[in-house]
Amino acid sequence: MLNKLASRLLFPCLPVDKSALRRRLKNKTVLITGASYGIGEALAYALADLPVRLILVARTQEKLQQIQSDFTARKADCQTFAADLSKPDECQTLAEAIDALPYPVDIFVNNAGKSIRRPLMASLDRLHDAERTMSLNYFAPVRLCLHLLKGHRPRFTHIVNVSAANVLLAPTPHWAAYQASKTAFDQWLRCGEPELRAGDVRVSSVYFPLVGTRMIEPTYANRSVPVLPVEKAANILCRALLTQKSAFKPWWLPLGQLCSVLFNSPWRRGWIRYLKASTK
Ligand SMILES: NC(=O)c1ccc[n+]([C@@H]2O[C@H](COP(=O)([O-])OP(=O)(O)OC[C@H]3O[C@@H](n4cnc5c(N)ncnc54)[C@H](OP(=O)(O)O)[C@@H]3O)[C@@H](O)[C@H]2O)c1
Repeated sequence: MLNKLASRLLFPCLPVDKSALRRRLKNKTVLITGASYGIGEALAYALADLPVRLILVARTQEKLQQIQSDFTARKADCQTFAADLSKPDECQTLAEAIDALPYPVDIFVNNAGKSIRRPLMASLDRLHDAERTMSLNYFAPVRLCLHLLKGHRPRFTHIVNVSAANVLLAPTPHWAAYQASKTAFDQWLRCGEPELRAGDVRVSSVYFPLVGTRMIEPTYANRSVPVLPVEKAANILCRALLTQKSAFKPWWLPLGQLCSVLFNSPWRRGWIRYLKASTK
């Protein structure tokens, strides 16, 4: 009950003007990575009734096929590609398959992601944690952006990045591999934004808090924390597609950012004390 109330307060429902979205996306091609589950799947379903062409990418072929047949029944225009985007050769094959389609990509929603929560001292033989997160969360979207900017202009005009609220806050122990990779792409895109804007390509960075998907299950399954429902997350992405604003943050995130600066030292000291106590 309390959790529901907190969730409503922290994540109010912001309406999307469906007819404006319909006009904005009419005849547009939207590439969504990580569309088989969670936020990406919810976004694909939110767009399925609009006059758009969807290109959906993820690894799980059966799930993509299931979504495709569902969309075909609704007469939605949808292509699916199974690819492991953490592998450069599969990214390249996907890029070539997209080039072979009769229509260029207008909008890229970078959503596929991998999360790892592990203490640094438990990662001493696990360089692959850093490699895996970087290859999917950083190198794959960089590769796809460069490819689309090179070959799909002038139609390619909007990049929506599914980022995480934590990249704007004080760092948290145990999340080094994930946070570093999410921050890397967030920075890459924000550094490039003025150049992209000058070339008429919009960038929207969407900073999500915890979202109720399978990604958070290993860490939060038995904890009662307020999470953003996945349908609301898809709704926020629809607003990003409609308004093309450069950043979407929960209303309370700027307060968190301020506290991250003001209370950085006590935050760090608190963690050190807690971690020392928990290893005794
Ligand atoms: N959940 C949260 O609390 C939260 C908060 C902030 C930001 N985010 C971000 O939101 C995005 C979506 O996460 P989610 O919560 O929706 O998680 P999810 O339910 O686990 O979905 C992740 C999606 O990415 C795909 N994917 C994973 N590895 C892939 C790979 N190697 N190649 C291609 N596709 C791959 C998955 O499909 P397959 O397994 O079929 O490949 C799935 O469709 C991520 O970028 C995440 O960092 C999530």
